[in-house]
Amino acid sequence: MRIAIVGATGAVGTIMRRLARERFEGHELVAFASERSAGKTLEDGLVVQPLRDDTIEGFDLALFSAGGDTSRDWSPRFAAAGATVVDNSSAFRMDPDVPLIVSEVNPDAVGAARKGIIANPNCTTMVIMLPAKALHDAFGLTSMVCTSFQAAGGAGQKGIDELTGQVATVGEDVDQLVNHGEAAARKVEHSVHANTLAYNVVPLLGTLDDQGYTDEEMKMLNESRKILSIPNLEVTPTCVRVPVVVGHSVAVRATFDQEVDLGRALDALNGFPNLVVTEAPTPLEWAGRNETVVGRVRGDLNDPHTLNFFVVGDNLLKGAALNTVQIAELVAQRVAA
Ligand code: A2P
Repeated sequence: MRIAIVGATGAVGTIMRRLARERFEGHELVAFASERSAGKTLEDGLVVQPLRDDTIEGFDLALFSAGGDTSRDWSPRFAAAGATVVDNSSAFRMDPDVPLIVSEVNPDAVGAARKGIIANPNCTTMVIMLPAKALHDAFGLTSMVCTSFQAAGGAGQKGIDELTGQVATVGEDVDQLVNHGEAAARKVEHSVHANTLAYNVVPLLGTLDDQGYTDEEMKMLNESRKILSIPNLEVTPTCVRVPVVVGHSVAVRATFDQEVDLGRALDALNGFPNLVVTEAPTPLEWAGRNETVVGRVRGDLNDPHTLNFFVVGDNLLKGAALNTVQIAELVAQRVAA
């Protein structure tokens, strides 16, 4: 097979190249990025190609992580030239002709790619989907209150650079952090995150709509409904950026049709593929790992139909590059069958 990696120089694209090399050994990989990077040799020896009608011919698979605009322009062209596209942007996720797939949750949807494009979910939605599906199959999910703790790396390399560049300056004066926080926050610039992120928590992530929710929050609602095939699922989302480099966490209050038995819930979570249960997972300890991890699993104090838990996943791996490559594996298996 010939496999294109579009956005190959980015935070997600770099990991996609590594995973594609490991999981598609012996197949040809071709790197694409912007005109600025064309001709550059990457550390794995691939030479970056520009996106042009004559360079996109002859691919079986094209894995995209180069932003929504690039996906909107070039995914249909790769598909028209014969490739199956797996797209990590939000451009096609809610298109009814484009399946939105978490490989452990709804792999069979791969057969419904009527446009030759399959979408990879938002990185925060992805983290919730594994435990949500495990518990939905056991008890019938009806609603979720989800509060995220999202890493800087969710905004790509530039999001990581902005956070790490702020840490020393904001942290140098502890007395100021204690007594004059606003002055500490104003010592550095921010453009990627909505406020100074170092030594801080920023409860605004994305663009607000007229109901007071951000586009990032609405992805959690709309994408969860589509992936889980629960059209009337109620989701109350709050997305928060925290000073973590990689690893999104979400506190979830999930309510079900049936009363929840804690033992059966733990069995369902423990038995789900690529999901691990520990007592109190933290994003730093799970950065760089493929599995999603859930902890603080406990019944609700007020409602026997409700379970509370805390879930953590690497937003660049399962949240983006890994799931994209897992979808590519599903496509390859289907072609081979
Ligand atoms: P480049 O490095 O040439 O700018 P990140 O999410 O980490 O910011 O990465 C974005 C990725 O998308 C990079 O590989 C970037 O390439 C690529 N990219 C950005 N704009 C375009 C474009 N117009 N055409 C193709 N690739 C693009």
